[in-house]
Amino acid sequence: MTRTLREAPPQTGSNQTLDPQSWDDIRAQGHRMLDDMIDYIADIRDRPVWRPIPEEARARFRAELPRQACDLGEVYREFADYIVPYATGNVHPGFMGWVHGGGTAVGMLAEMLAAGLNANLGGRDHIPIEVERQIVEWTRAMFGFPREASGIFVTGTSMANLMAVWVARTAALGQTARQQGVGGEGALLTAYASTAAHGCIAKAMDLAGFGSDALRSVAVDRSHSIDVAALRAQIARDREIGLKPFLVVGSAGTVDVGAIDDLKALSALCREENLWFHVDGAYGALGVLSPALAPRLAGLEDADSIALDFHKWGQVPYDAGFLIVRDGQQHRDAFSAPAAYLRRETRGLAAGSPWPCDLGPDLSRGFRALKTWFTLKAYGTEKLGAMIERTCTLAGYLKARILAEPRLELMAPVQLNIVCFRYRAANANVVNGDIVIDIQESGVAAPSTTLLDGQLAIRAAIVNHRTDVGDIDALISAVLDFGARRTSGDGPAPEVG
Ligand SMILES: Cc1ncc(COP(=O)(O)O)c(C=O)c1O
Repeated sequence: MTRTLREAPPQTGSNQTLDPQSWDDIRAQGHRMLDDMIDYIADIRDRPVWRPIPEEARARFRAELPRQACDLGEVYREFADYIVPYATGNVHPGFMGWVHGGGTAVGMLAEMLAAGLNANLGGRDHIPIEVERQIVEWTRAMFGFPREASGIFVTGTSMANLMAVWVARTAALGQTARQQGVGGEGALLTAYASTAAHGCIAKAMDLAGFGSDALRSVAVDRSHSIDVAALRAQIARDREIGLKPFLVVGSAGTVDVGAIDDLKALSALCREENLWFHVDGAYGALGVLSPALAPRLAGLEDADSIALDFHKWGQVPYDAGFLIVRDGQQHRDAFSAPAAYLRRETRGLAAGSPWPCDLGPDLSRGFRALKTWFTLKAYGTEKLGAMIERTCTLAGYLKARILAEPRLELMAPVQLNIVCFRYRAANANVVNGDIVIDIQESGVAAPSTTLLDGQLAIRAAIVNHRTDVGDIDALISAVLDFGARRTSGDGPAPEVG
């Protein structure tokens, strides 16, 4: 049955809004929440890294749509009892899986402030946009990009890489491709990345309409960096058969082992061949903040665009992905689209063009810049750089422990903060896969796995600023312990520690 809107004058009064009936009550509740979350971070070592989710907790989130109001205190209790204990675990120093930042209390507080302002950073003239522009300027300075560079916060590097493909596409085909589609010429465009590049690059080629087959996977050398000679040869072969190479994606820190492509050589090749040079620097790009690591990233300053995540090595709470493009005009050419309802003015709230919505697909955008601004200001880049360097030193320590232990085998060179290794066993792929799950379920640590030449490796990425020597020792002990149990026949009895 449809209900018509009432024609009587609307009722007035504070109980007609969603504001609290008592500001004192919500203030007290808010203080409790804040205290609890600060305790959660401060006491994180007292908890397991991760724990399996009991059916009862999962069932809580299969509830009916709530039609009636529920007391905030009760909702919060449900959060405390059923959400907090079963989070991913990346706040914990024992979390070493995939590539996860640990976050900070500073970032958490900034996120709360941003939610209070409830700013929409798609556009218009307000200081939150200036804060984002400040981060663009700082990022530009970090990478030595020219003044005309532009940048934008996005969810993560997967999105930033996709946007870079779109920018490179418009640069190659011209803006008419935005109205007419990529057409026949677009079908010939070909991109290049190493076999070690992250899967989101192939996905970006797919989503951009080229198809993932239009991405050539180029072989890597022994250090897992792209073979530049093989790349050059592939480009020549493709040109010969009438294809149109347009984009090379270099990796500044591959996801598997932390290899850095020779960015100088790639930028020189791209200049020679007139190709767009994009760098996937998801976590590695922020290595420029460490004086020891920065020289290894030489060439980054010559890129046409860089994708990176402040939520990884930068420790900004999720999410805080970022794309910076050397030529701001080319960036705008790929995304700006006039609309009557988004008309720009020279004064008033609609001033301040170009707006962030001219630099990406999103119109509604949150204030990711604030937690990044707080993080960069509260710690300073020297301290952040030292923290990043320390994660690499810890990876070196883990490598040394592996090399000193005959029951373990190092599986790849340790170049940054990622260590791939395994427990020596007859059925090593199965045994090591089980060891990783056993360790995760024990709550002691949370490594992940990867496949290197068909061999399953235990993969520890030291990204969290809280990780210390004791956490590395605990990981080694757990691998040896579960490895012995898995190979002696008496399976482990996982306990949540
Ligand atoms: C090298 C690399 N590229 C891209 C990504 C994807 O980034 P995001 O998860 O922020 O989308 C990752 C994630 O770990 C990565 O390591």
